[in-house]
Formats: sequence, structure tokens, C-alpha cells
Amino acid sequence: MRYLSGIQPTGRLHLGNYFGMIRSAVEMQNQGEAYYFLADYHALTGASEPGQLPSLVQETFLDLLACGVDPTKAVVFRQSAVPEVHELAWYLSTVTPMGLLERCHSYKDKVNRGLAASHGLFAYPVLMAADILMYDADRVPVGQDQKQHLEVARDIAGKFNEKYGQVWKLPESVIREDAGVVPGVDGQKMSKSYGNTLEIFAPEKDLRKKIMGIKTDSTPVEAPKAVEGSTLWGLARLLGREDEKAEYRGLLEKGGVGYGDLKKKLADLVLQEFAGMRKRREELAADPAQLARWMAQGAEKARGSAMGVLARVRAAVGTNS
Ligand code: ADP
Ligand code: TRP
Repeated sequence: MRYLSGIQPTGRLHLGNYFGMIRSAVEMQNQGEAYYFLADYHALTGASEPGQLPSLVQETFLDLLACGVDPTKAVVFRQSAVPEVHELAWYLSTVTPMGLLERCHSYKDKVNRGLAASHGLFAYPVLMAADILMYDADRVPVGQDQKQHLEVARDIAGKFNEKYGQVWKLPESVIREDAGVVPGVDGQKMSKSYGNTLEIFAPEKDLRKKIMGIKTDSTPVEAPKAVEGSTLWGLARLLGREDEKAEYRGLLEKGGVGYGDLKKKLADLVLQEFAGMRKRREELAADPAQLARWMAQGAEKARGSAMGVLARVRAAVGTNS
């Protein structure tokens, strides 16, 4: 079984990334071959300033490793280590119906939020299909918002197979029901592009401050608080042991505890959950030479398997094989 996933290096990793995707990726690296990459080509479709990409790649690499992605088990690399992915994306784009891309919510959402409607943003799902197929992935752990992109990847692979024979097996998304969509401090989906994130590795003071700023309603201290659909529960349900979750839920349901105290308690739970990873990040950051070696190793392995697949594709389409 081969697992693959990607994450855009567009900012520091947050709780949504961890519970939606990284946690599964860490489990899967012990279950089969795993390929995890930093989607730096995809990140160029976003709004970041020129020049920021190298440090974002470094920081996200460190974040991922601190979260438990293990470069001695998984192949961890940056997307641009294998530029041939664009050759594959081109082949795939020639069998991709325009209508398929026109239906993508992510494109429409991003344009509605003010991102430039570039061809790169529109063709994003084709490059994503190439990322997945380039490594013959069977299973792709992603958060719920990426579900449609996975369906598009399967459709494109299917179209390609119809034309050229059985070149691809169809990849499947793995979406954790228990994560759902992790809410940000404003109650919307937590996302780097909404500025509402709780970053896993932010300084304790900043993290506490952000949690104290979570939007809540005006329920008085003594009254029971909303549970389902509330941001506090949307986060607390993911943190700590079962008894700690139940205790938190109890505090919301029974009333008598104000939002200030509930937020303090939530901050304690967040810091407790990530304490080990925060420490690990500091240790990893202290050895940049080791990080560079892992990055180079990942690039070499990724390239090795991609070139084999590409030879098969070139033979199928009749280009320089
Ligand atoms: P962002 O929206 O912050 O830019 P990415 O698009 O880089 O995050 O997402 C990386 C991975 O994390 C994807 O698999 C995505 O589905 C998952 N993810 C991101 N935000 C959330 C969230 N709020 N809840 C659940 N999963 C999420
Ligand atoms: N689109 C994904 C995201 O925004 C990142 C990504 C790029 C990806 N290529 C991928 C995820 C391939 C899984 C597989 O989160």
C-alpha cells in the first residue's frame, strides 16, 4: 500500500492541518510506503510575497517532522525536487474536461476571496492529480476540503486510462470522520488564508492570547453553553484523553463556568496536547545539517520512483521514451 499527501508551504502549520491530515499521515507511515511532500509549486498560486518560499519550505518541513512525520520511514520531499511532475500534469491536462475544473469549489472560493483568477489556480487540481499519480499512490490522507480534488484526480486518471490503456490505478482519499472541519478562532474553517489559525508551534503567550480571543456568544456565566456547533467544543473534542473531553463537555453543558475560564482550560488542553511536539521542534531546529540531509535524501528517493512512472507514461503517450 502506498500513501501520499501534500501540504502547501504557505504558513506555519495549525490545528486544522494536524487533525485533518498530519495525524493520519503519521499513522500511515507505519502501515506502508509513505510519500509526503511540500507543495511549493501549488503555493505559488497563493498570495505570498516573492522571496518567502524558501523559508516557508524550511519551516513547514520542520513543523511536519516535529508533528511526527519521520524522514527515515516516509519519503519527505519538496514538490519542486521533481520538476518532471509538470510533464505529467501536461499529459493529464490534455484529457481533463474543462467542465471538471469549472466545477471545483476551491477555485471558486479562492477567487471569491480575492485571489487572482490565474490559469495556475484554475489548473491546480491537474497538478495535484499529477502529484498523486506520479508516485502511484493508493491512498491519500487529506482534510475534508480536499475531497473534491481527489475525485477530480480519479476522474482524470480514468479518462487517461480510457484513452491510453490501464496506466493508473485509481487513488482513494482517506478522510477522517472524527476531524471534520476544524474551526478557527472566528468559527469559520481554520485556514492559513483566513488568518484565524491556532499555530501548533506559536509561542505559548501568543497561543493563549489567540485562544482567549475566540469568538463566543453572550450566554451568561451561570447558563449552560452551546456545545455542538460551538468553536470551543469544535476544538476541545479533539484534545486530550476521553475523560478530559467528557469533562470539558460537562463544563459547557452544566453552566456556571464563564467563557474566560473555558478558554483558559482550552488553552491548557492545546498546550498539553502539543507539548512533546513543541519540544521536538526545538531539538530538530538545532541541527540544520541533518534537516538538509533528510531533505536531500527525500528528493533523491522521490525522483527515483517518479522517473520509473514517467517512463511508463511516456511510452503510453508516445513521447521521448
Ligand atoms: P490551509 O487551508 O490552512 O491553507 P492547506 O490547504 O495547506 O491548509 O491544508 C493542508 C491539509 O490540512 C489538507 O489536507 C487540508 O484538508 C487539511 N486542513 C486544513 N485546514 C483544515 C481544517 N480546518 N480542518 C480539517 N482539515 C484541514
Ligand atoms: N491541495 C492540497 C492542499 O491544499 C495540497 C496538495 C497538493 C496535495 N498536491 C497534493 C494533497 C497531492 C494531497 C495530494 O491541502
